Amino acid sequence: MTVIEVQHPLVKHKIGLMREADISTKKFRELTGEVGRLLAYEATADFPLEKTTIECWSGPTEVDQIAGRKVTVVPILRAGLGMMDGVLDMIPNAKISVVGLARDHETLQPVHYFERFVGQLDERTALIVDPMLATGGSMIATIDLLKKRGCKDIRALVLVAAPEGVAALTAAHPDVRCWTAAIDSHLNQQGYIIPGLGDAGDKIFGTK
Ligand code: PRP
Ligand code: URA
Repeated sequence: MTVIEVQHPLVKHKIGLMREADISTKKFRELTGEVGRLLAYEATADFPLEKTTIECWSGPTEVDQIAGRKVTVVPILRAGLGMMDGVLDMIPNAKISVVGLARDHETLQPVHYFERFVGQLDERTALIVDPMLATGGSMIATIDLLKKRGCKDIRALVLVAAPEGVAALTAAHPDVRCWTAAIDSHLNQQGYIIPGLGDAGDKIFGTK
């Protein structure tokens, strides 16, 4: 299973709140960050630990630490920026790579307009963040870019996925796992997820 629908009650509750038609920009933005944080918690559950000895108040003590893992968070512009800070709250030492893609409203194909990757991608875990997996085109294009630069451990975090996007992502990149707060019913004629959240970028940035 490449796409994992997180069943945690906090995740389910918060994504439900995000579906309110008249939600404010402030509330939508806050919830985007909160669900991003919870998805990051789930997506890092298999990070290996190693033992290290520290000086504790009671003397030298062996504690766990994450074993030399380098992480880059990869927001897909624009809407991915809304999830980025939540993920960085959990992984504050992560470096940030940015991919700019905008979906053409007619063809639904992603149009690439920006990229800036951090170095050593071959040694890093990439956590791609984007609220919506609709046709899957934007996510697949971002994974293509990361793989071309040698990245081998790629994980995706999305708020809502459409079955069409799940199928496309699974077919294109079966090795990539994607954590989502919800898998919804279908895409409408305009490529919007139903019931979905509407236009996530507009709701996070307050445009339209
Ligand atoms: C939205 C969303 C994803 C993409 C999903 O971005 O944030 O990036 O569409 O659709 P897909 O799975 O069919 O590719 P959009 O292109 O609207 O840009 P924005 O983030 O700037 O609003
Ligand atoms: N992009 C969005 O913001 N929402 C959708 O439902 C599909 C693509």
